[in-house]
Amino acid sequence: MRVLGIETSCDECSAAVVVDGHTILSNVIATQIELHKPYEGVVPELASRLHTEWISQVVKAALAKAQLRPDEIDAVAVTGRPGLLGSLLVGVSFAKGFAASLDIPFLMVDHIRAHLYASQIEHPLAYPYLGVLVSGGHTVICRVDGYDQIEVLGTTIDDAIGEAFDKVAKHYGFGYPGGVALDHLAKEGDANAFLFPGPTLRTKDHPYDISYSGLKTAAINQLESFWNGTSAKSAENIAASFQRSAVNMLMKRVRSALEETGMKRVSAGGGVAANSYLRSELNKLSEGGYEVSFPSLKLCTDNGAMIAALGYRYLNDGIRSDFSESASARVTAFKKQYLQRVKP
Ligand code: KG4
Ligand code: ZN
Repeated sequence: MRVLGIETSCDECSAAVVVDGHTILSNVIATQIELHKPYEGVVPELASRLHTEWISQVVKAALAKAQLRPDEIDAVAVTGRPGLLGSLLVGVSFAKGFAASLDIPFLMVDHIRAHLYASQIEHPLAYPYLGVLVSGGHTVICRVDGYDQIEVLGTTIDDAIGEAFDKVAKHYGFGYPGGVALDHLAKEGDANAFLFPGPTLRTKDHPYDISYSGLKTAAINQLESFWNGTSAKSAENIAASFQRSAVNMLMKRVRSALEETGMKRVSAGGGVAANSYLRSELNKLSEGGYEVSFPSLKLCTDNGAMIAALGYRYLNDGIRSDFSESASARVTAFKKQYLQRVKP
């Protein structure tokens, strides 16, 4: 089954062709980063306008790279939620038109589930595994029992981890987008230069919840209080110290969740899963006998291949979306399937 995957939820305009959920024939990602750079953040109105201008070319490029004609595609999957509504609507409308014109199945998939599924394309893990979704908009620790069976164990109670990276980077002028720039700077820095606050106390009801606003505020506004007094107050040192605190906070929750649930496998996904320090800390878990998997860098950040691959799973199970369904900016309740099971 050749599935065309379309992703336009934020500032990447992407289309991919994936065969049977595993073989990536093409994964074209046209990033809008340079066009949002002057504003130091994604401008929703601009994003949707650019998707409208680019989507047709991006899909054509994905088909050309896959060496396929449109009529050789078996189904179209598109990000239906969550994200910037205007941007989502561009991808969803295009996908509906494409599917209708060829009379092939149309599937709207959840962006968060797709990030959590991305590692399965290249390095499939047996279920259940601990899923760690770390992106610009979300921080979720969950039990994954199947491609659509996700039970949330903990989430951020305020900022997402990627948002904290981006805000700290923006405040210090490290560059845009902030996460990648901060990761690069941190490689040259001393992580002991600033001893930022550690994780907040665990609550009985929500033991795996996490908070990033305290760390973000400490790194932005109270640098002096956490300085070790000897190392330089350099960009590299701020980046390294912040990055280590942010990742260690997450790893502490990940380790507790693994120990307390007894799960033996862990998989990360989302833009922050591209972070070099997080990847090395997750890899260390394998020394303790855990199986660790994360997507290659290109499949961590937003891309059409993860949408096509997850779409294939629904398709294979006889699940389709209806043309009457629309995009939504909101996160779905994780326990509830929102795609319709249809009679084959
Ligand atoms: O998954 P993604 O492309 O979009 C969302 O669904 O949010 O994630 C984007 C986020 C941004 O916050 C970006 O700064 C962060 O991922 N990011 C990184 C790195 N690469 C991307 N954060 C830390 N280190 C990186 N290497
Ligand atoms: Zn994303």
